Parts: sequence; structure tokens; C-alpha cells
Amino acid sequence: MKARACIRKEHRAIFLCLAVVVVILVLRNMEILKTPSQFQHEVNSTIMAPRVSTDPDVHRGFCTFQPLSPEDAVEERLLLDSIAWPETPLLPTPLILEQTSDPAHSTFTILPGRGGRQWHVGDQLEVRINMSDFQGRPKKSGGDLLLARLHNQKLGAGVAGTVVDHLNGSYSAVFSLLWEGDAQVEVTLAHPSEAITVLKRLNSEEPDRIGFKSLFRSGSISETTICNVCLRPTQQPLCNHTDLRTGEPWFCYKPKNLSCDARINQAMAHYKGNLRANEQKLFQSGVNLKVYIRASGPANVTVLPKKEGQPEVESSIVKVGPSGYYYQGVWQALGGTTVRQFKAPAISQCLKGKVVHMHGDSTVRQFFEFLDAALPGLRVFDLHSTRQIGPFVALDYANNILVKFRFHGPPIQSAHVSNSKLRYIANEIDGLIGGTDIVVVFGIWAHFRTYPVQLYIRRLQSIRRAVVRLLDRAPGTVVIIRTGNPRDLSQINSDWHSLQCYKVLKTMFKGLNVHLIDAWEMVLAHHLPHNVHPPPPIIENMINVLLSYTCPQMGG
Ligand SMILES: *[C@@H]1O[C@H](CO)[C@@H](O)[C@H](O)[C@H]1NC(C)=O
Ligand SMILES: *[C@@H]1O[C@H](CO)[C@@H](O)[C@H](O)[C@H]1NC(C)=O
Ligand SMILES: *[C@@H]1O[C@H](CO)[C@@H](O)[C@H](O)[C@H]1NC(C)=O
Ligand SMILES: *[C@@H]1O[C@H](CO)[C@@H](O)[C@H](O)[C@H]1NC(C)=O
Ligand SMILES: *[C@@H]1O[C@H](CO)[C@@H](O)[C@H](O)[C@H]1NC(C)=O
Ligand SMILES: *[C@@H]1O[C@H](CO)[C@@H](O)[C@H](O)[C@H]1NC(C)=O
Repeated sequence: MKARACIRKEHRAIFLCLAVVVVILVLRNMEILKTPSQFQHEVNSTIMAPRVSTDPDVHRGFCTFQPLSPEDAVEERLLLDSIAWPETPLLPTPLILEQTSDPAHSTFTILPGRGGRQWHVGDQLEVRINMSDFQGRPKKSGGDLLLARLHNQKLGAGVAGTVVDHLNGSYSAVFSLLWEGDAQVEVTLAHPSEAITVLKRLNSEEPDRIGFKSLFRSGSISETTICNVCLRPTQQPLCNHTDLRTGEPWFCYKPKNLSCDARINQAMAHYKGNLRANEQKLFQSGVNLKVYIRASGPANVTVLPKKEGQPEVESSIVKVGPSGYYYQGVWQALGGTTVRQFKAPAISQCLKGKVVHMHGDSTVRQFFEFLDAALPGLRVFDLHSTRQIGPFVALDYANNILVKFRFHGPPIQSAHVSNSKLRYIANEIDGLIGGTDIVVVFGIWAHFRTYPVQLYIRRLQSIRRAVVRLLDRAPGTVVIIRTGNPRDLSQINSDWHSLQCYKVLKTMFKGLNVHLIDAWEMVLAHHLPHNVHPPPPIIENMINVLLSYTCPQMGG
């Protein structure tokens, strides 16, 4: 209950902040937006499932979810409000590209600080970004997704900035100054506001644009049908594969001659490129999809040593700082945990006698693969699993270390996977006894990009209930959550949905005794190109964060 009060307080603060200022777009690394949570200890098996009926409103949003408990519904409302995106322009048909945001005609400028053009470590740097269209006319509305980073390549230093949307075509990016010397500003347009209009439409109208199929088989009869979180209503009967414990929805069209129980496997069936010809222009690499914005003047400043005795000032428009930054290529967390570097012998020493349960998507699988490669004593047991999905088990006999990886439950955009291997994270966590030698790591985000964010909120609510139960029965269990991250973009992949999932995740697990690997900031602050699977130097830093939470008392 205390936690709940705390959550509400936090929300109030957020709203106040929003009201007074503006809309916070982006990037905080900070553990900032984390939130509330409700601690429902009992298992409430409220099922959310698409309404498949003749109800007229099903046609627009056919992915309708069943009601939540009153508490969960309140939380969902608050979360949706906290990530509400500014209105974005309606798109005329045909689209007039000339009137949309153009990074090449847009600029940013470093604003003078409180010391004029002198900055010290501990100060904040503010940058003003003015967006214009392809004809060079200033934009009058907000909603562009901008990413900002401050860096010094020679020092291997980098930190994510927080972007504030003034809703009038201009934006601020605010950075914490954390190292001495040169600091260069980098501003990127991830998506123009007009593209976000398209992304909003797709996620509400075409959540089934990535389709799945299942093979049903019994004896010599086999049939394949289409499956998804929600299916378009037709005359065809459905198989309801909703998980009874978590309520996670999943449906297939029923095979004609087989029962629903005959389902054998599932796989991704199709991706329907649903961008209208019109809309494709809003997702052009090198034009308006993750493109740098140039500075109208200098793009860098020299940061002087910290001034003794001078209080640090907070920005008037940004309340939260970054969750960490790179220095000499090494991630340093801000606020709490000291991140240490772990080389192979120290990793083994840290994990000695422990069981590490990893759950989630391929971005968590990267952690398993990293440990497998880094620890000579760790042997992967051959379970004849596919490389993509697992499950995997690895054992270091001498040090009594067990590391496991299992993919999360549907939706999974993968090649064929046997049904019997599909497990929801919440159910897996419920199966753990927990304890001080148990480390639970999970990360789930990349396979939710085509759905309304409500699906993701519900998934996290069920996982959080399981985490709360785990920490109740075994308070010493180490729980570590990997967030999503900015990625390589295309007409299929957007950072917009990932960013919303990131904010929701941080808010929902705030106040619980869990640790975050802030992959969003760790990728954004780094100089390597964004990728859904961050490259090895970033993974190594994430593993250092993971091990620093697991073995806080150890040096590396
Ligand atoms: C699917 O099954 C769940 C759990 O039994 C149930 O609550 C839900 O209403 C069903 N949905 C449909 C559309 O039949
Ligand atoms: C779960 O939530 C529903 C919806 O609010 C409620 O009607 C039901 O009684 C709850 N069940 C339990 C076991 O708490
Ligand atoms: C941004 O645009 C406004 C209005 O046109 C102008 O007053 C301001 O100087 C511009 N700022 C920068 C940094 O270019
Ligand atoms: C947009 O709003 C900001 C914040 O209120 C203000 O500083 C800026 O001058 C405005 N820009 C334009 C172009 O109106
Ligand atoms: C189902 O069985 C009927 C009768 O044996 C057959 O004609 C039909 O082709 C089968 N349908 C499918 C989809 O296998
Ligand atoms: C910005 O960078 C350039 C090129 O590295 C350098 O010559 C210049 O001194 C820097 N400016 C400031 C203000 O640090």
C-alpha cells in the first residue's frame, strides 16, 4: 500500500511536470520514469481477450482487451497518460512531403549557460532545436521523435540527453556535463511527427500486420491456420489458447478437421507491408529516418573542471538526469550502484554457486551467449534447441554455476518453435523457489512493436505480480530487468513504440527491489550504430552492470 501511495505521488509529480512544462519526449536514462506498481499478491486471472463479435466498434480496433481489475485499470490509464504523444499532423492524400519535418533544413543551437559560454562539470547544457520542413519553413507543431547525445570520441565518453517538445516546432535537449574537456552535441531525427501519425494508425488498425501460423496435427491429418494475439472477426470458429494463469491472449482459427488441442508448433507467417505508397516517403533512410540534424553554429563546448562550492543547478525544464554515462568506453551508473568491470575469472567468482535464470527475447539471449563465450569453464548442454529460441542450459561444474535461457511466450517472430517450448515469463518466475543464490534476468520488448501498448502493459502487469510473489517468498533473490533500446530503423522497425515500452517498463517496476539495465541509454549514449542487438562492447558493459548488481561487494 505504501508503494501504491508512492506511485500515485509519482504520477502527480509527472502530471504537474507535464502541465507546467510540456511534453517530455524522450530519453531519459534515468531511472526516472519508473513507477508505481501495484502489488497484487493474489493471482487474479482476469482474462483479456479480443472481443470477437459483431459489435460494430470491433472493426476499427479489433484488438480489444477485456477489462482489468480496478487497480490495474487505473494504472493503465496513468501509464497511457504519461506516455501520451503530442497530436501529430493528419496526413493529406496525396502526402505533401515538402510540408513534413526535414532534418536537412532543421538546425540546433547551443544556448548560453548561466556562466555565459563557460560550462563546468556538474552544469547542464541546453540546446535548442528548430525543426523545418523540406521547403525550409519552420514547423509549427511538435511530435517529432528526436534523440540527443553528448559525446567525446577520444575520451570514449557519451551521455544521453533529455528532449523536451515545446509543441511549436522547437525542442530543447538538455545534457548533464559529466567530464572535463570537449563535449560534442549530436541530435538525430528518429521519426518525423508525420511518420508517428502513421505508426499510431498501424498499431491500432493493423496490429496483425505480423502474422503467425500454427501446425495442427493428429495421426495422418494436419492443417495449418493463422494465429495472433487478436484475429479479425470472421465466420470461422476460433481456438482460444489464452494462458489460463496469466491471462495472456492468443488465438488461432480452428482447423476444420482437428481439435484445438492438436496444435504442434508456431512460426511467423507473414509481414504485410502496410505502408501506403504515400506513407513510405516518411520512412526513408538518409532522408527522414534516423538522420542527424546539423548545428547552426558550434556543435561542441569545452567543459571546465567542477567549480568548488558552487551548487549544481537543475534545469528548469528537465527534472531527471541520465541513469549513467560512458567514460573511456566504460559505463558508469549515476545514483547508487558502482559499476565494476568483470573479466573472466571475476565473472566466475561472482557467479560461483549461483543459478542465473534468463528469460525474454533475443536481446537477453545475447547475455547468455556472452557468458558462454567469456567463461571457459561454462559448457552448454546440447538440448537440440534452435539457436534462435533455445531453451539453453550451461553448466560450470567446478564452480557450480548454472545459467539458463528461455524465450518469452507469444508473440514471438521466429521460425518454427514447438508449442511445448513456449512459456510465459510470469509462469516461469512462479516456478522458482528463489533465494540469495538465484539471479533472475529478463527483458521483453522487441516482439511487441506491432501491437497497442496496452498489450505490453498487461504483459508487464502479470510479470510484475510474479516478481512480487517471488520477492515475498525469497526476498534475497536478485532480479534484473533489461529495457529495450533504440534500433536500426526501417519501414518495419520504429523507435517510437520501443520508447513507449521503455517508459512504461521503468515506471511499472519503480519502487520494487529490482535492478534495471538501462539499455535505452546505454545504446543511445554509445558511439556505435543503433542495433536491436547491440554490438559486443555495449553487451560487455551491460554484463558489467548485471554482475555489479549480482555481486555488489566484489571488485572486478
Ligand atoms: C478465451 O479464454 C479465456 C480463458 O478461458 C476467456 O476468459 C476468454 O473469454 C476467451 N475468449 C474468447 C474470445 O472466447
Ligand atoms: C480479479 O479481478 C476481477 C476484475 O476486477 C474481479 O472481478 C475478480 O474478483 C478478481 N479476482 C480475484 C481472485 O481477485
Ligand atoms: C528558432 O526559431 C525561433 C522562431 O523562428 C527563433 O526566434 C529562434 O532564434 C530560433 N532558434 C534557433 C536556435 O535557431
Ligand atoms: C516555442 O515555445 C518555446 C517554449 O515556450 C519558446 O521558448 C519558443 O520561443 C517558441 N518558439 C516559437 C517558434 O514560437
Ligand atoms: C476435412 O475432411 C474432409 C472430409 O474428409 C475433407 O474433404 C477436407 O478436405 C478436409 N479439410 C481439410 C482442411 O483438411
Ligand atoms: C570544437 O571542436 C573543434 C574540432 O575538434 C575544436 O577545434 C574546437 O576547439 C572545439 N570547440 C570548443 C568550444 O571546444
